[in-house]
Amino acid sequence: MDAVAEIKGRIDPVEYIGRFVKLQKAGRNFRGLCPFHTEKTGSFYVFVDSGIWRCFGSCGEGGDVLSFVQKRENVDFRESLRILAEETGVELSARAAEQRSRSERLSGIVSAAVDFYQQQLAGEGGAEARRYLAETRGLSDETIAEFRLGWAPDEWRLLRDYLLGRGYGDEDTLAAGVLHESDSGGAPYDRFRGRVIIPIADHRGQFVGLGGRILGEGEPKYLNSPQTELFDKGRTLYALDLAGPQARETGTIVVVEGYLDVIGPWQAGFRNLVATMGTSLTEQHAARLTRFASRVVLAMDPDSAGMAAAERAGSLLLDLGSPEAMGASQRSAEAITANADLDLRVAPLPAGKDPDDLAREDPEVWRTAIENATPFARFLLERLIGGTDIDSPLEASRIVDRLRPVLLAVRNPVERSAHIQTVARRLGIAERAIADRLRVENRRRVAVPESRIAPARLSAEEALLSTLLHNPALRGDLRSLPVDLLPQALDREIVQRWLHDELDGIPDDQDDPVAARLHYLRDRREPLLAPAEARRRASDLIRHIVRERLIQRQSAVTEELAEAERELGAGHVQEVAHQTWLGAIPSEDTIELAEMAIEELELGLSIHRQERDAS
Ligand code: UTP
Ligand code: MN
Repeated sequence: MDAVAEIKGRIDPVEYIGRFVKLQKAGRNFRGLCPFHTEKTGSFYVFVDSGIWRCFGSCGEGGDVLSFVQKRENVDFRESLRILAEETGVELSARAAEQRSRSERLSGIVSAAVDFYQQQLAGEGGAEARRYLAETRGLSDETIAEFRLGWAPDEWRLLRDYLLGRGYGDEDTLAAGVLHESDSGGAPYDRFRGRVIIPIADHRGQFVGLGGRILGEGEPKYLNSPQTELFDKGRTLYALDLAGPQARETGTIVVVEGYLDVIGPWQAGFRNLVATMGTSLTEQHAARLTRFASRVVLAMDPDSAGMAAAERAGSLLLDLGSPEAMGASQRSAEAITANADLDLRVAPLPAGKDPDDLAREDPEVWRTAIENATPFARFLLERLIGGTDIDSPLEASRIVDRLRPVLLAVRNPVERSAHIQTVARRLGIAERAIADRLRVENRRRVAVPESRIAPARLSAEEALLSTLLHNPALRGDLRSLPVDLLPQALDREIVQRWLHDELDGIPDDQDDPVAARLHYLRDRREPLLAPAEARRRASDLIRHIVRERLIQRQSAVTEELAEAERELGAGHVQEVAHQTWLGAIPSEDTIELAEMAIEELELGLSIHRQERDAS
C-alpha cells in the first residue's frame, strides 16, 4: 500500500475536518459553514463514502483530506503529506528515503561492476575479448565505449574482491545480481566469468543489470543478471535510454531480439533500436514503446521463433489479446481499435540475417526493410494463409476467426476492404462472408457486459490524467485548466506539474506517492490520438467530471430534503419551495429548506441541459 492510501486509511475525514469546521449530519453526509469563505448558511459538505469535501457555495473549493490540509495550512502537497503522516504515524520520508537510497546503492554496485569490467577489457587480460569485439563482431572503439562493454575474466572472485575493497558487502552485492550464491556454503562468487559484459540501463540511463556473452561457442550463449529489486526484465527495454532521442525525432522505434542487434545497427547510424532480453514483449514494454513513437517496427530474427515472437508482440501492441485466444476473443471492438492509430509493422529481413549482420553489411537493405516494413495486418495474413493450401471450409473459417480482430483493428476502410479482398481470394470464399463475420462479431461485442470487457476501467479523472500525460501537446490548450476539478490532492499535484512541464524531474521511485501514481497512469493503455482528437477527448472528460460534480451536489441536496420531508411531512418542503419561487417570503426557519429545494430543481435543469448539449 502506498503512503497516501495508508494515510487515508487511518484518517476519518469527518472527524479530522470536524476539528476545524462544525459539522452536522445532513442525510448521509455532513454539512457545515465553509471555512474558506464567509457564509451564513452551510454549503460545505463532507461526503462519507468518498471522503471528499466540497463547498457548493461561492468559493467552490473541494478535495480530499490532503487538499483540505493544503488549503487550511496554506502548504504544498508534500508538506500536507508530511503533516498527515505525522498525525497518523505513517512513516513517510524515512521509508521513502530508505528505499531510494537502497536502489541508488544497488545501482551504484552495478555501476561499479560496469567500471571494473570496462577496465578489464582495456587491460592485458582483455586482449582476446577486444579481438572478439573488433574482429568477430566488427565493433569500433567508439561503439564499445558508448555501450560501456566490458570483459569478465574467467576467475571466481575478481569482482567480489574489487567490490569488497570499495566497501560493498556480499549481501548488497548479491542483491544487485552481480554475484552468485555458493551452493556449498562458501563465499559468493562472480556470476559472470569469461564473458563479454553488456551493461543494461533503465530508460533514465541508470544501470540495473548486466548481460554476458560467451566468447565464441558455448552454453549458455548469454547469461543475464537475475530479476532483482532493480532489474525487471518485463519492464526494461535494452538501450531505451540511448534510442529515445532518435525514436522521438523520427517517430519510429524498432524492436529487435538481441543486445548485439541494437549495437551493430547503432554503429551503422541506426540509433532508434531497443531489445527485449530473452523474454517476449510484455504489456509494460508495449506501453513504454508507444510513448516514444507512433510507428513501431518489429525486427525479429527471420526464423520461425522470431516470426512467432513478432506475432505475439504485435498482437499485444494492438491490444488484441494473445494469438492463442484470438479466435475466441471476446474483446470489444472499441478495445480492439484502442491502439489502431499505432502504425505497427514487421520488417521483412532476408533469411539468415539478423539485424546485427544486416545493418552493418548492407545498411541500405536494412534501411529499406525498416522504411517499407509490412503493416502488421498484412504480415499476419501472410503468416496465417501463407503458401498453404486451405482445403477445408473449417480450416478457412478458423483462419478468418484469427484474422478478425486484426481486420477490425484496421481503421482505414479502404485498407480494410483490400485486406478482406486478399483474404477472400486466398481462402477461396466470398468477400461478403468475411464482411458478415466482422459485423456479426461487432454486434455480439456490443452485447458483452462492460465488466467483462474492461475489468479495470479508469475513472473519468484517471482517464483525463492519462490523456494529459500521453498528450503533452495539450498543455498549450489547457493552461487554464481548473486543477481542483480533480478531487484527489495527488492527482492535482500531477496536473500541476504537468502544466508546468516538471514531470521529468520526478525520480522513478515506487515508494514516492507522486512517482508511483505517475507510473500507474503512464502505464495505462492510451490510444494514440491526433491533436484534435486528444483535445476533444480531454474536453469530453472535463465535461463529464463537471457533470458528475453537479450530480453529487444534487444528490446531497436531495438526501437532505428527503430527510426534512420525513420530519416535516410529505410535500411540506416542496410547498414552501413552490411558494418561495412564486415570490412569497419564507419564514426564518424554512428559508434554508426552500432555497435548497429550488437549488435542487435548478441543478436538475442544468444537468439535463448538459446532457442535451452533449448529445
Ligand atoms: P540470440 O541468440 O538471437 O542473440 O538471442 P544474437 O543477438 O543473435 O546473439 P549473437 O549475435 O549470436 O551474439 C537473442 C537474445 O536472447 C537472449 C539475449 O538477451 C540475446 O541478446 N538470450 C539468448 C539469452 O538470454 N540467453 C541465451 O542463451 C541466448
Ligand atoms: Mn546475432
